[in-house]
Parts: sequence; C-alpha cells; structure tokens
Amino acid sequence: MKFRRHSDKTPKTMMQPIHIGNIEYNGSLFLGPMEGITDVPFRKLARKHGCHVTCTQMIHAQAILFASDKQRVIETTKMTRDEKPVGFQLCGNDPQMVGTAAKWARDMGADFIDLNMGCPAKNVVNNGGGSALLQTPELAARIVESIQAQAKLPTTVKVRVGWTDDSKNYLTVGKMMEDAGAALIAVHARTRSQKYKGKANWQLVKELKQHLNIPVIGNGDIVAHSDIAKRLQEHKLDGVMIARGALGNPWIFSGHKPSIKEIYETMLEHLEDHLSFYGKEDRSYRTFRKHVVWYTTGLKESAAFRDQAFKERDTSKFVTLVHEYFKKAMNEYGD
Ligand SMILES: Cc1cc2nc3c(=O)[nH]c(=O)nc-3n(C[C@H](O)[C@H](O)[C@H](O)COP(=O)(O)O)c2cc1C
Repeated sequence: MKFRRHSDKTPKTMMQPIHIGNIEYNGSLFLGPMEGITDVPFRKLARKHGCHVTCTQMIHAQAILFASDKQRVIETTKMTRDEKPVGFQLCGNDPQMVGTAAKWARDMGADFIDLNMGCPAKNVVNNGGGSALLQTPELAARIVESIQAQAKLPTTVKVRVGWTDDSKNYLTVGKMMEDAGAALIAVHARTRSQKYKGKANWQLVKELKQHLNIPVIGNGDIVAHSDIAKRLQEHKLDGVMIARGALGNPWIFSGHKPSIKEIYETMLEHLEDHLSFYGKEDRSYRTFRKHVVWYTTGLKESAAFRDQAFKERDTSKFVTLVHEYFKKAMNEYGD
C-alpha cells in the first residue's frame, strides 16, 4: 500500500496571505520548480490540491532571446490565464540579457520573475548561472535590479545556502538580494556541492529568516504533509516550498489521504490534461510515463504493471491497462 501521512490540523501559518511585491496569495505553500516536470498540467493539479504559489521551470535567458527552436521555449515556459498570478523562472549571468528575457516573460503573462541561483548543473554553473551566482552576489544583485528595471515586475530569488560547506554565504547573499529589491527569497537548505545529497539544514533557513525583512521560504526534503507544519512552526518561516514530495502526490499540500480510487482518478485527470497540453502524439504519452511511476510507486504489483504498460505504444491501450490495474487494486483494497 502507498503510505501517505497527513496531519489532523492545518496550521494557521499555512493559510496566512503572503505577498510577492503587490501580489497577494492566500497561503504560503510553494511548488518547487522542476525542469521537465512542473509544466502547466502539473501546476494546475498542485494548485487544485492546495498549493498557493507556482512558477515555471528554469529557462536560460539566452534560450529565450536566441533559441532556434522558439516553439520548444514557448512550450516549456507556457503559462495560462487560470493560473495567474504566476511566476517565471530565469537563469543567466548577464544583467542586460536576463532583464530583456524578463520583459519577454512579462509579455507572455508572468506576474513575477524568479531568478535561479540554485541550479547545481555543470552546464549551467560553468556559464556563471544558477548556483554559480552565489559566488558572485554583486552580479546577482545587478541582475535582480535589471529585471525590475526592465520588466517592472516583482522579483524573487531561489538560492542555496552556499557554494560549498566552507563557503556558506546565505546571510550575505540574502541581505544583498533584499537590498537589490528582491521581494522574497526561497532557500534550498543545501550547498551547491551537496547537490541533492545529505540532508537539508533547516537551521540555516531559520537564521536567514531572522536576518531579513523580506519573506523567507524554506525548501528541502519535505516529503509529508506533517513536515509542513513542523517546518513552519519550528523555524518561524513565511512559507515552505515542496518539489520532489509532490511527485505523484499532489495531496501533500492538503494533507488529504487519497484512496486508491482517488489516485486512479487523479492520474487519469493528469494524463488527460497532459495529452491535451502536449498534443496526443507519441512524445506526450512518453513524457507522462514518469508520472505513472510516481503515482504507482508503493502500490502492490505496480512494477509488473509498469513493465507491461510501458511496452504499450498505443495511448488508448495504455489507458485500458491502467484501468485494469486500478480496478484490480480497488477490488483488493476497496476504494
Ligand atoms: C528533476 C528536478 C528538476 C529541478 N529543476 C529545477 C528548476 O528548474 N529550477 C529550480 O529552481 N529548481 C529546480 N529543482 C530543485 C527543486 O526546485 C528543489 O529546490 C529541490 O528539489 C529541493 O526540494 P525538495 O526536497 O522539496 O525536492 C529541480 C529538482 C529536481 C529534482
């Protein structure tokens, strides 16, 4: 059986409005941007289940301005009317270029711009973007200023606590971003050299909160709804951001414990949205497979089901297999 915990009590802090510049959200649960995952259908589902603030995945400013395949850029960064107000995440190390890309994002519908200062990937940091900006905070501050000057939108930053264990400069970076006009800071409580290993150090997030006046959002290793209350209360934060914990589990935001039937219905709803967003062709079906893995992980005989289902090339036959698998699971466990 899938193990999903949920708390009895939704903490009040979770439902307190939060401001990003002049934008007001009626709660402080953020979905962490994830490249190739947090697209329009995924964000819609997260919001339906209680997430308040969503943002596009990271895209390099250069790709926006110079990509040969503009269609791909538009698909990756698409925002829809019904998700407004919505954020747009940019990465880059050239203030002028990031500012110009931010203006483009505003014209495409973005309500705030988030600067990525956390991505650890080599191809990003070798060009001075993502978490490499932690080593050049003066440059990061100029980028934040340029975004505001050009796009005239509230600007947020998503950082890590430092480049290495010996150079944890989150307090300096946080202050410099605040002074540059950042409206909010989200911090993944790991260093760049940790990448995704080890544990997130939430004590550092608490220190950052005490150090700054702008809202501070904590991020890292929230895997259950009950972790949200714990983090908000223990560390007196303005909000939390959840990324991997929401994979196959949009209920992490609400704390609802889904039945097998609800998992089944939600997965189908997500699939339908995914297919209509990307078009009913082979690629869109293939890109949904990872979600099937996440929704069914921990369910009985799910590995065998996935082996069989992923061999299927035809979407409607795949849906039939999904239906049969869940029907059997519901018969065994009840709804
Ligand atoms: C597959 C994947 C893709 C990610 N893509 C992005 C991204 O585009 N922008 C970003 O700021 N963070 C990105 N992240 C980092 C997450 O937003 C988040 O900071 C990190 O996973 C820690 O939070 P978690 O423990 O809740 O997952 C990504 C993480 C994963 C696992």
